[in-house]
Amino acid sequence: MDKIYITRKLPEEIVEPLREKFDVQMWHSESTAMTYEEIKANAKDAHALWTALSDNIDRGIIESLQNLKVISNFGVGYNNIDVESAKEHGIIVTNTPGVLTETTADLTFALLLATARRITEVEQEIRAGNWISRSPMQYTGMDVFGATLGIIGMGRIGEAVARRAKGFDMNVLYHNRSRKLDAEETHGVRYMELDELLQQSDFVILLTPLTLETKGLIGERELNLMKETAAIINVARGGIVDEQALYEALVSKKIWAAGLDVFEQEPIPINHPLLTLPNVTVLPHIGSASIRTRLAMMELNAKDIEAVLKNKEPQNRIV
Ligand code: NAP
Ligand code: GLV
Repeated sequence: MDKIYITRKLPEEIVEPLREKFDVQMWHSESTAMTYEEIKANAKDAHALWTALSDNIDRGIIESLQNLKVISNFGVGYNNIDVESAKEHGIIVTNTPGVLTETTADLTFALLLATARRITEVEQEIRAGNWISRSPMQYTGMDVFGATLGIIGMGRIGEAVARRAKGFDMNVLYHNRSRKLDAEETHGVRYMELDELLQQSDFVILLTPLTLETKGLIGERELNLMKETAAIINVARGGIVDEQALYEALVSKKIWAAGLDVFEQEPIPINHPLLTLPNVTVLPHIGSASIRTRLAMMELNAKDIEAVLKNKEPQNRIV
């Protein structure tokens, strides 16, 4: 019987149907992630490895799992997997695109609104007992309606965010590796080179994958191009923005605020400098975290693992 190893504890309703056909083993704890060595040891003879985004599935792990046929990643991004190495070893890699697009676009917009109107910062003011009077300019933020939004990465989620932005009467600019004429026509968005988009936008949203080209895409130079009244929202991956440069731009008021769902290190260390700034809104990487969407993502993983183990073509193959 083929063995599936799952590196996170998943709901039994998802795993149970697989147990009838495969030897399914999974990590026991919902609150702790597996270490690199634990993955190597526990998945040693697995035919399928069901991974989470924080698992570093590098060449070392891939070469140590001799029976492996498929790696199925719980998420659309797959920067945590050495796909070239998987390909070299004839291992199929799958992910969960599409089913999380709208949920992640909702969260992106929630983070945009929260950052613009300082929602989490001012809520903390109430809870700390600091709301003792009302004055005209107290707790004021930036308008979202009618503002200029720059989306970097006009893919599935980028387009879903552009649709929402139109409801807020925003002027939407985008930058993408390739021009998206369909999106321009459907959503009325305008293509711009990166520097120009950064100079013109009131809000900049990052929605590219983390790759060799996008790592450090937004650093000191790029942040300096932004308006002093602008905010940056990162729902893509931590490594796309240089966090040290972001911290300095926020402290020196080169930009107005940041909204972050993702970080270079996750969970973000509690003593991270960005957490000391009131003009940073932070979330614990919850872009796709609605109950329905998370279950739909797991269904895709389960289907694709079963397909590969039955020598069929999976629906969401990366390599
Ligand atoms: P997608 O449909 O593949 O869209 C990605 C877009 O980025 C594509 O349009 C792509 O351009 C563009 N791109 C790639 N490299 C680029 C570069 N160097 N410069 C400019 N644009 C570039 O993916 P998606 O489903 O929208 O997801 C996007 C990313 O969001 C994921 O990879 C993941 O990292 C992140 N994400 C985060 C969460 C969360 O919980 N925070 C949830 C879901 C996804 P082309 O058209 O040329 O390929
Ligand atoms: C989440 O970050 C994803 O890539 O699905």
